[in-house]
Amino acid sequence: MAPDRDAAIAILKANDRGGYTVPNRRVYPFQWNWDSVFVAMGFSTFDTARGWRELETLFEGQWADGMVPHIVFHRPAEGYYPGPEVWGTRHSPPTSGITQPPVAASAALRLVESAQDRPAALARARNLFPKLLASHRWWHFSRDLDGSGLAVVVHPWETGRDNLPDWDAPLAAVTPGLDVSALREDITHVNAAERPTHDFYNRVMTLVEEAKGFGWDQRRMAREGSFRVCDLGIQCILIRADLDLAGLARLLGEAEAARGIEAWRARSVAALARLRHADGSYRSLDLRTEKLSPAVTSATFLPLYARAVGAPEAAHLAALFTAWMKRLRYAVPSTDPGYAGFDARRYWRGPVWLIMNWMIAEGFAFSGEEKIAARIRADSAALVAGAGFTEYFDATDGAGLGGRDFSWSAAAALYWGLLEARGAQPGI
Ligand code: DGY
Repeated sequence: MAPDRDAAIAILKANDRGGYTVPNRRVYPFQWNWDSVFVAMGFSTFDTARGWRELETLFEGQWADGMVPHIVFHRPAEGYYPGPEVWGTRHSPPTSGITQPPVAASAALRLVESAQDRPAALARARNLFPKLLASHRWWHFSRDLDGSGLAVVVHPWETGRDNLPDWDAPLAAVTPGLDVSALREDITHVNAAERPTHDFYNRVMTLVEEAKGFGWDQRRMAREGSFRVCDLGIQCILIRADLDLAGLARLLGEAEAARGIEAWRARSVAALARLRHADGSYRSLDLRTEKLSPAVTSATFLPLYARAVGAPEAAHLAALFTAWMKRLRYAVPSTDPGYAGFDARRYWRGPVWLIMNWMIAEGFAFSGEEKIAARIRADSAALVAGAGFTEYFDATDGAGLGGRDFSWSAAAALYWGLLEARGAQPGI
């Protein structure tokens, strides 16, 4: 039987550790940054206060410089590598030393806009606002040292789309300094063919050691790190989050802050042109070599979500989507299905992720491409109906992949309204 709303709610409740939610009981037993933000939106469909709490516990991990870490290790848990002792960041609560896509301001605005008790929501938002502002300032200054408008990412895990083909060339330039294959826990929980390779892990853990050597000085990491890229996903998500943070600032009567955020945003929007390939697609940029990625990924559609491009670009992206969908059944594959390295089952090299689908569909709908938005929504509902709330899905046959009972898949389905009440058919 297809899962209903109650099944999704049950997953969020089962993965709730008391104020924060783990992405998945076994694979990821701590609080992850962007997972939690989507989870907050999922909670907001049935328990608004709990949604706010998710954002608040995430920001308990925020560093003094404004960075919001990608993992907050609130409490010890077994079964994950690299755990808090490997990161060694000396933060309380313990955290990793890198970040993840900045979706939080967008979620906070949505929580306010959808609140039944508006004064209570505004009070929660007012409390969070300085922290959100500090995190955006961090992105625009500590991760854009020369004010170019392009945010630098220093580790593939920061992108949340860990093993995209985009990172192949930049990672090839990192000499692996250790072999962590025996330490990995992920492949004891999930089929290794659906996870990144050992070679990937050896290189990304080398980057962790390098950053430790920099004393986790974020500006030094941004200036001297061996991996420095502008991730198209983060660039677009930040541009959208700036728009939403400025909106939140105005709701809170913070007009001056709103003007400042809009100025940051304008610089990032202008710089997006540097990520446009001659063929009209948008791509990530290796900032060490100034080369655009040879691959196109599903982030190419996110400039629409970012509200950062005009009608001609939107038409081009709509045509690109249509061309991709001639090659497979389910929208939206994480990597161009025509790319030589496309892999239908391996993590971000092909599979469909619901949270990406939601952002991509939102952007197409705003751009007037209603049919494409409806297609993505229908495919997303069909994937959940067929495979449940798995971490990701095979775009060719709809198989569920990665971890089971995954929080952000349940949350996205709830927030997007893909599920009906108990016993009914999923709404498509
Ligand atoms: C992992 O462990 O696979 C995570 O994606 C890193 O954040």
